[in-house]
Amino acid sequence: MSRRRVAILISGRGSNMVSLIEAARAGDYPAEIALVLSNRPDAAGLDWAREAGISTCVIDHKAHPTREDFEHAMDAALASHAIDFICLAGFMRVLTEGFVERWSGQMVNIHPSLLPLFRGTQTHRRALEEGVLVHGCTVHFVVPELDAGPIIAQAVVPVVPGDTQDSLAARVIVQEHKLYPAALRMICDGTARLENGKVVFSHGWNADGALHSPS
Ligand code: GAR
Repeated sequence: MSRRRVAILISGRGSNMVSLIEAARAGDYPAEIALVLSNRPDAAGLDWAREAGISTCVIDHKAHPTREDFEHAMDAALASHAIDFICLAGFMRVLTEGFVERWSGQMVNIHPSLLPLFRGTQTHRRALEEGVLVHGCTVHFVVPELDAGPIIAQAVVPVVPGDTQDSLAARVIVQEHKLYPAALRMICDGTARLENGKVVFSHGWNADGALHSPS
């Protein structure tokens, strides 16, 4: 099977981007990272990607008068790199329904909570405020409604007494870095696919790919 050509969209640090690029270095990984695209010229992840020899592209949302103009510029960059799959990795722009529909079934996101809990921002602070005992992260297909798409994979971490936002975030991000490459593998090798708005898993499903839980 030929490797899927993946673009990673970032806005900042890019640690999930790094985990995807490193996973894709394996000879048997079903995706190659063909482009890193940032909406912010100063995103730290861009330097890392350039040094790793990955094509990068900056499309500054501030240089485009409307969301549609910004997204058409992104579409042109994605087309010129023959991208067939998008991973959002800390990409902090809300996408229009038009863009999301154009990439339906071909765009995923990682979110730092166990969706459908804690959509939006400040997920670790809100988890602590609610007193949940488990927290985590989710990889899901992107749909027009924010952080609402069909779930592909989740990782669970405990919330322990004395946790702060930082300690909880640090525990979750370790799992994000394992979960995202595992989820992208399942999508690109056909183990997980979107059908009629639901994720369908083939017989290749296993807990290492779709569900990570604390020991
Ligand atoms: C990650 O924790 C990711 O889950 C989150 O932003 C961080 C980006 O870190 N994404 C969202 O909150 C999207 N709603 P990174 O740039 O180091 O990958």
